[in-house]
Amino acid sequence: MTEANRSATLTLDGKSYSLPVMSPVLGPDVLDIRKLYAEADVFTFDPGFTSTAACESAITFIDGDAGELLHRGYPIEQLANQSNFLEMCFLLLYGELPNAAQLEDFVSRVTRHTMVHEQMHNFFRGFRRDAHPMATMVGVVGAMSAFYHDSLDINDEWQREVAAIRMIAKLPTIAAMAYKYSVGQPFVYPKNSLSYPGNFLHMCFAVPAEDFVVNPILEKAMDRIMMLHADHEQNASTSTVRLAGSSGANPFACIAAGIACLWGPAHGGANQACLEMLREIGTVDRIPEYIAKAKDKTSGFRLMGFGHRVYKNFDPRAKVMKESADEVLGLLGIANNPLLQVAKELERIALSDDYFISKKLYPNVDFYSGIILEAMGFPTSMFTPIFALSRTVGWISQWKEMIAEKNQKIGRPRQLYIGEPKRDYVDVRHR
Ligand code: ACO
Repeated sequence: MTEANRSATLTLDGKSYSLPVMSPVLGPDVLDIRKLYAEADVFTFDPGFTSTAACESAITFIDGDAGELLHRGYPIEQLANQSNFLEMCFLLLYGELPNAAQLEDFVSRVTRHTMVHEQMHNFFRGFRRDAHPMATMVGVVGAMSAFYHDSLDINDEWQREVAAIRMIAKLPTIAAMAYKYSVGQPFVYPKNSLSYPGNFLHMCFAVPAEDFVVNPILEKAMDRIMMLHADHEQNASTSTVRLAGSSGANPFACIAAGIACLWGPAHGGANQACLEMLREIGTVDRIPEYIAKAKDKTSGFRLMGFGHRVYKNFDPRAKVMKESADEVLGLLGIANNPLLQVAKELERIALSDDYFISKKLYPNVDFYSGIILEAMGFPTSMFTPIFALSRTVGWISQWKEMIAEKNQKIGRPRQLYIGEPKRDYVDVRHR
């Protein structure tokens, strides 16, 4: 636990309370209010947790003003350009980059866990074919706790480790199965000779009737998309995983909760919503109409893929994603893709508009990812499942970090009650 190095004083109704101030390695100082309620009989009010640090963490750091994202201290740009997704998984889970032998062992362990229990195939068949793949994933990942009884004991470090490897290994299989099920095609089993992203593309796009060769351009792009989504500090879905886990729930149930939270359009669902918006705009000449709508508070419309709770500068992931979109579409010979043209022009116009400048609204990671995923052949409904399978390593790393804490407590926020004061029950005949 971080030690306080000085204190702040809160004065309330003539009484003074000392609040320890803790200094993190990076980021703003943190007021320790844990004893405030006991000592001063007051709560703090912070809906949306805009000023609240809910935990200590050594995994990811974001400097929202500088537009900087570090995983275990390493800048995301360096990881995206020089590392690969599985190496990054090792880094997030264990804190350091692996040496060659550690990496080989880790890749082998993940690769040997990619198949799902055969009975899960039957479980899938209970869903309607037109179910959104995220709906299927929430159900199937939650159901993993009914299949893998030997990795449910959260107090056993080895079982936690096995659960982590299982989830990193099986989530792509489950996402691909959700996709195959939704298009009425047979499930494709994982292939251990392929890379992690290559295997995912194979499970999504291969059919038994013909050979499928993974395109190396798309394989690399997929790997990068996975890296850019791998973890992002205490965002809504990660906080959901931590809160669910704080009660002692099993890891599969916790990750299912994270997937459910990610689905919302204000979070991971924004990549689908963003591409649908770009399609709706359709041509560059219609952009001003949409910019005006986004600025009009009565329209209820927001530019999807724009704005972020933490970044008040460019989302560094969006920069890498934009480069990737250019590269991938160029290599595929579709650099003049109309959606990419609309996205770039929309970004240019928004970034020179006073409304967006004054509110510090910049493109986020979801702004360009959909364009690449669509070029790869994914329907929009698969965008958020791909985000979910990529974020699984972040969720599970954060969950493991929390469970390993000595003084871990159940998460239990308080409230500012605004309902009726105490009153007496009135019989129905007198109401
Ligand atoms: N388009 C237009 N206006 C916006 C947008 C947007 N995309 N985002 C924020 N604003 C405006 C708000 O209307 C508000 O204006 P006001 O101060 O005049 O009331 C101001 O900017 C601040 O917005 P908040 O909603 O208070 O900011 P918050 O930090 O709560 O929300 C969020 C962040 C949810 C990401 C928001 O920017 C948004 O809805 N963006 C669109 C959805 C999106 O792209 N989500 C993906 C986020 S990244 C991720 O999860 C991977």
